[in-house]
Amino acid sequence: MSVLRTQVGIVGAGPAGLLLGHLLHLNGIDSVIVENRSRDYVIDRVRAGVLEQGTVDLLIAMGVGERLQREGLRHDGLYISFSGHRHHIDMADLTGGKAITVYGQNEVVKDLIDTRLSTARPLFFEAEDVSVEALESSSPLVRFRHDGADHEIRCDFIAGCDGFHGVCRPSIPEGVLTTYERVYPFGWLGILAEAAPSSTELVYTLHQRGFALFSMRSPTITRLYLQVPPDEPIDNWPDEAIWEEMLARMTTRDGWMPSVGRIVQKGVTPMRSFVATPMRYGRLFLAGDAAHIVPPTGAKGLNLAASDVLVLARALKAYYEHRRTDWLDEYSNVCLRRVWKAQRFSWWMTTTLHRSPDETAFDHQRQIADLDYLTSSRAAMTSLAEQYVGLPMEVGLDSVGLSSTPHRVS
Ligand code: FAD
Ligand code: PHB
Repeated sequence: MSVLRTQVGIVGAGPAGLLLGHLLHLNGIDSVIVENRSRDYVIDRVRAGVLEQGTVDLLIAMGVGERLQREGLRHDGLYISFSGHRHHIDMADLTGGKAITVYGQNEVVKDLIDTRLSTARPLFFEAEDVSVEALESSSPLVRFRHDGADHEIRCDFIAGCDGFHGVCRPSIPEGVLTTYERVYPFGWLGILAEAAPSSTELVYTLHQRGFALFSMRSPTITRLYLQVPPDEPIDNWPDEAIWEEMLARMTTRDGWMPSVGRIVQKGVTPMRSFVATPMRYGRLFLAGDAAHIVPPTGAKGLNLAASDVLVLARALKAYYEHRRTDWLDEYSNVCLRRVWKAQRFSWWMTTTLHRSPDETAFDHQRQIADLDYLTSSRAAMTSLAEQYVGLPMEVGLDSVGLSSTPHRVS
C-alpha cells in the first residue's frame, strides 16, 4: 500500500475541490485531490453557466481567469417574462456597475484542472472506494484504490468537496448534523442547441404551462430549460416536442422567441433545497454541494462553492501561518450566513417562477402580482439585482493574499 502525507486531503475535483486546491497552493499549503470520476467526465458534465461578479473577481485574482476574460459573456441585465411580455432588469445600473458572466462550469473546471496539473501537486482521477477515516484525530485519513493499488493519505485536515452524493457527509456519525430540506414537485429539462442566442441576456419565463429559461454558452450555442415533472423520463421528449414546448412557453407578444437548432445534449435534473449544519466534524470540513444544495433558478450553487472555499482557505492559511484555530472554528457559521441568504433567494426565484401541481388559483394570481411588482418597482428590482450578481463574500480576497481589485469581463 502506498502512504502519502499532505496538509489538506481534498475529496472531489468539482469547482469546490479544485478552487480550494489552488487557493492553498497560492499560499504554499500542500494538498492531494482525490476524484472518483475520469477527467473527461468531470469536464464534460454540463451544469452551471452563471458566475457572480465576486466569483469572476476571485478566479481572475487567482490567475485562472485568462480564458474567462477572453471568452466569458458579461451580462449587465436580464429579462423576466410573464403574461406574454418581457421586462428588462438593468442589474449594472441598479448595483453600481456589477454584472454576471456566462461561462460554463465545464470551462471553469477545465481551466482549474489545467492549472492544477501545471503546479505538479497530486490530483488522482478515477479513484475507487474512496473513504475518509479518523476524522476526530489530529491525523485524519483518505483511503482509496487507484490503478489496482491501495492508497492512504495522512492529512492534517480533510475538505469534503465531493458534492451532494459524495462520501464525506455520510461519514459523519449519525446525530451530529442537523439537516434542512425541501424537495420541489418539478425538475428541469435542459438542452444545449446549436443556435445563435436570439437575446444577449437571460430570459426567465413564467408561462401558464410552467417555467422556462433562455440562456446560452457562446455566440453559437443556446442553453434552454423547461419545467417538467421531477422524475420525467427524457425519452418522453423527442427533439420536436422539446422545441414545440420551448416556443410555446417563451414566445412573447412582440414576437421574440429562441432560435431553433440541432439539440446536442439533453437531460432532466430534479430540484431541491438542502442544508447540513454544522459544515464541520472534527478535522473534516464540508464545502459546496457536499454541505448544501440550491434549486438552480437563482444560479447560486457554483458561486456558493466558491465562497465556502474562500472562507476555508482563509482559516487554513491562518492555521499554518499563525497556529490560529478560531477561524477554523468559525468556518461553518461564517459560510452559513451567506448560504442561507442564497437559499432564501433561490427558493423565492423558484416558487415565484414555477407552477406547482398543488397550487390554487389564488397562488397563481399572487405569483403574477409578485412579478408585476418586481418589474415595476425600482426597489424590488434592486433587491433582485444585488442578489443575482451576488451578495458580498463574507471574507475579502486579501485574507488569502489576493488583490481585491474588481475586474471587468468584456
Ligand atoms: P460538484 O460539482 O458536484 O463536484 C463534486 C465532485 O466530487 C465531482 O467531481 C464528483 O465526481 C466528485 N465525487 C463524488 N463522490 C466522490 C467520491 N466518493 N470520491 C471522490 N470524488 C467524489 N450553479 C451556479 O452557480 N450557477 C448556475 O447557473 C447553475 N446552474 C445549474 C444548472 C444545473 C442544471 C445544475 C444541475 C446545477 C447548476 N448549478 C449552478 C449548481 C452547480 O453546478 C453546483 O452547485 C456545483 O457543481 C457545486 O460544485 P461542487 O464542487 O461543490 O460539487
Ligand atoms: C445556465 O446557463 O445553465 C443557467 C442560467 C441561469 C440559471 C441556471 C442555469 O438560473
